[in-house]
Amino acid sequence: MPVEQVRKIEPTIESWDHPYLNRSWTPNYTEYNSSDMKVIGEIPTDIDGVYLRNTENPVHEAIGRYHPFDGDGMIHMMSFADGKASYRNRFVETKGFVAEQEAGHSLWAGLMEHPSRSLRPGVCAQEGLKDSSSTDVIVHAGQALSTFYQCGEGYRLDPYTLEQLGTESWVPKDGISALPKVDERTGELLFFNYSKQAPFMHYGVVGADNVLKHYVPIELPGPRLPHDMAFSENYSIFNDLPVFWDAEQLKRGNHMVRFHKGVPSRFGIIPRMGQPDEIKWFEGAPTYVLHFLNAWEEGDEVVMDGYFQDSPVPPDYPNAPPGFERMMAYLDQYSIAPRLHRWRFNMKTGATKEERLDDRTLEFGIINQQVAGRENRYCYSAIPLRGWFLFTGLTKHDMQTGKSWSLELDEHQYCSEAGFAPRVGGTAEDDGYLVTFVSDLAADTSECLLIDAADLEAGPVCRIQLPHRICAGTHTAWANGADIRKADSLRQAT
Ligand SMILES: [Fe+2]
Repeated sequence: MPVEQVRKIEPTIESWDHPYLNRSWTPNYTEYNSSDMKVIGEIPTDIDGVYLRNTENPVHEAIGRYHPFDGDGMIHMMSFADGKASYRNRFVETKGFVAEQEAGHSLWAGLMEHPSRSLRPGVCAQEGLKDSSSTDVIVHAGQALSTFYQCGEGYRLDPYTLEQLGTESWVPKDGISALPKVDERTGELLFFNYSKQAPFMHYGVVGADNVLKHYVPIELPGPRLPHDMAFSENYSIFNDLPVFWDAEQLKRGNHMVRFHKGVPSRFGIIPRMGQPDEIKWFEGAPTYVLHFLNAWEEGDEVVMDGYFQDSPVPPDYPNAPPGFERMMAYLDQYSIAPRLHRWRFNMKTGATKEERLDDRTLEFGIINQQVAGRENRYCYSAIPLRGWFLFTGLTKHDMQTGKSWSLELDEHQYCSEAGFAPRVGGTAEDDGYLVTFVSDLAADTSECLLIDAADLEAGPVCRIQLPHRICAGTHTAWANGADIRKADSLRQAT
């Protein structure tokens, strides 16, 4: 099948003069199907599954200042089977997207504006925001689930066709945060949400059968801004970090974030099906952590890796357009300085030990999800571009030997957070492919790259040209075809 243009949405944006509406962050409005793409190299026959990326694509002129995390979610999908690949992209048809299509203009103000500027009530943690479902995407119970970091409803899509399956029915009234976790061993989905009302956080477990099995409050001292969680085989780990809204400003509806430097970080560890009184809290050095990599159990300890921010509330970004100094600073990983970091929580003594694992600025790391919850040997981080929310390559770490390898892209090329596709029949942890979308600004093209995870520096095994240049964005997922088929037959049997 040649490239099929499925739909084109007409934007009503009037002012394109914005750092995150241009170049790599130029939004996409056309939806495509394509299974006949130019391939440089050969698509291996031992890759089977689907790579998904969520992105932010604003359709209407913003009410006030636009922040790229306000944009409407669009999923880009590349599937692999039998040495062939297929591509599709679709907007996530959220209630907000549909309502604004009907209205012909924005109905909600964004992250950087006072909630009172929104024309309709928002549904999310900060209030007044549209649930754009644009932050993250995972595959659970055979279906994709797109989520929003401010706790939206969660939207289901078919992972191959991107057919819209609507909101997920088990999502509670406080919503679901981005970065829910799928434990591939059990098929369970672990999630959290947060809000401005006590107890300020909840934790839930959904079975492989897509039924909510467990939902408990996680009591925090006040409203917090957690972005991620971690899990080991037996525990789930939540965070109460000293980077949260200024209480006085919040009374006036202003969502100004402060780094409370004298307040320790806190990490709460709860058995997977644990009750609130079973949570154990640990203290650590003050920081903010956007993303964790993995956690596992080792004797009396629960060990967790993630990216410790040295400067979680950075100074204003120099030379930013007026009004965008804070936004540009927060979007620059070199400003907030995340470092690969390890926490060890002793479940017997309550002590925390911490260790920096690498001094470089890295973020958006992934592992082979087959070992999630158990000790991983390898991880694959994205290398940020100074000044921008973009990635210029990937770095692999061997946690056992301390060695690392990097694949740096050419100038003007930017990749997405990688996915790890285990090689069909492979057994070693790094026996598989790193999958990433690369946009080339000079050539005005995008490609999907497959990289041998065991030999990152050899460069891509193959490159598949997409029908258009795609917008930069946030999170990605890899899902194994065998797992999707297994979940499909489980669903059909019940
Ligand atoms: Fe994130």
